[in-house]
Amino acid sequence: MKWTTIIIVVLSVIVVAGVGVWTYGFFFAPDSVEMVSERWARSGHANAASVAFTNWADREPPEIPGVCARCHSMDGYLDYLGADGSTPGVVDQPVLGISIVSCRTCHDQLAHTMTEVTFPSSIVVEEHTRSVNCMHCHQGRRATPGVDETLAGLELDVVDEELSFINVHYAIAAATLLGGDAQGGYQYAGKSYVGRWEHVPDYDTCIDCHDPHSTFRNPDQCSPCHLNVVTHADLRDIRVSDIDYDGDGDVDKPIRLEVASFQAALFTAIQNYAADVIGEPIAYDRQRSPHFFAAADDGETATGDRYDSWTPRLVRAAYNYHYVHADPGAYVHNARYVLQLLYDSIEDLGQAIPVDLEPFVRP
Ligand code: HEC
Ligand code: HEC
Ligand code: HEC
Ligand code: HEC
Ligand code: HEC
Repeated sequence: MKWTTIIIVVLSVIVVAGVGVWTYGFFFAPDSVEMVSERWARSGHANAASVAFTNWADREPPEIPGVCARCHSMDGYLDYLGADGSTPGVVDQPVLGISIVSCRTCHDQLAHTMTEVTFPSSIVVEEHTRSVNCMHCHQGRRATPGVDETLAGLELDVVDEELSFINVHYAIAAATLLGGDAQGGYQYAGKSYVGRWEHVPDYDTCIDCHDPHSTFRNPDQCSPCHLNVVTHADLRDIRVSDIDYDGDGDVDKPIRLEVASFQAALFTAIQNYAADVIGEPIAYDRQRSPHFFAAADDGETATGDRYDSWTPRLVRAAYNYHYVHADPGAYVHNARYVLQLLYDSIEDLGQAIPVDLEPFVRP
């Protein structure tokens, strides 16, 4: 064999091996820990300065109570899972200091093998994907049965001093996705509600649409079916359903805006009910807890005083109104469920004040 042939054979082997390794790396190998970490570092989960983690820092001692630590710290979450050897399903002790949603939160062995989530309604849902961890923290803190329990035996339109606004909490995507299967919204007796939104097989759970590390949504995944989607901002414009839910004649506008129409109509009904039935005007501020305030003379602006003239009917409607604000992705997580909640709240207020539901279609 000539030495040139040997060199050619050796070079060919190197090139073929190189292409093979590259192809494997590009298409099949899992992302490196460095890449994953870099993506995670950009997420809200890694933001140690966020109020979601620092809210308790000024306390003396700086402890996060167990009921909050379960979702607001890694140590609390691991305690909740029982990874610290304690009873699963409860956080036995308060958590000291700040611990963010870091690697072990989702990669502890128990976090990997868990297949069930208990929702605030006490309903247990099976989830056999790795989204199961997301569902533990993004489920809210309240549900239909608890609201019914608080309101039991009270007259619907009589102000009760013991009542106050019931806040489902924030970033409650899992409750919305599961819909009537988890009962996270306030569901009126005698009405039926859609369950989990099935969408399409490969896009029906959290980590199909959200990168678990950056938490971002990748528009390229959606564009093959939703042709309008090119950039990230276009996600907000998706529309498939051809039902004119709000009756404005436009069935091409984003499904998000159908939800917004229902929300606006519910808010008008809430304001009219508060002013005309209770006699105390009400205002809402998404950014500021406790969200419902007494309204100034213009009937719109919050005065700074918490609203404190609650009737059971108002508590139920306000719960659903805030619910939709508390899930900024409600229109994608389960539009039909939230349209049903909003519709039913408007209809219920309509028992006490005039409302115009004529143009609206309940899904
Ligand atoms: C231990 C509780 C916990 C788990 C588990 C968890 N999250 Fe979160 N998530 C949070 C908290 C707390 C925030 C608010 C973070 C902030 O304000 O900086 C948040 C924020 C978010 C946001 C808002 C955008 C952002 O990055 O701030 C998205 C989207 C999100 N999570 C998706 C997910 C997904 C998807 C999963 C599962 C792969 C998941 N979360 C698992 C607690 C959790
Ligand atoms: C079931 C999980 C869960 C529990 C339990 C929980 N939280 Fe949260 N909370 C969250 C998530 C998820 C967010 C993320 C909101 C966001 O996107 O910033 C949040 C947000 C917040 C915020 C920021 C509010 C805002 O306007 O964005 C505060 C304050 C807060 N929680 C306080 C509490 C307190 C106090 C407790 C205990 C009494 C508690 N949380 C219990 C999941 C939970
Ligand atoms: C909010 C939950 C969550 C957090 C926090 C998290 N991961 Fe993950 N990680 C997941 C899930 C879910 C998968 C599986 C993704 C899949 O199957 O598509 C995963 C997959 C991985 C993989 C396999 C490669 C891949 O992309 O599929 C690696 C490596 C990894 N994680 C490392 C880390 C490291 C390192 C950290 C901390 C810097 C971290 N993870 C934090 C949820 C999380
Ligand atoms: C069909 C795809 C899809 C599924 C499934 C899905 N999401 Fe989302 N999610 C989105 C999109 C798109 C947005 C952005 C909405 C917007 O910004 O208007 C979003 C928004 C969110 C937000 C608010 C983000 C922010 O910046 O405040 C959170 C939190 C969230 N999703 C968590 C989850 C969790 C947890 C699950 C599983 C229970 C889930 N999502 C399932 C597509 C999805
Ligand atoms: C394989 C095709 C396919 C992919 C990929 C896909 N979708 Fe869909 N999407 C559909 C179909 C089909 C429907 C109608 C299903 C229904 O009405 O329940 C739909 C409905 C929707 C709706 C409700 C629209 C309405 O008018 O009610 C939203 C929002 C949505 N998809 C968001 C997304 C997002 C975000 C992604 C990317 C993360 C995505 N989809 C990826 C096929 C797809």
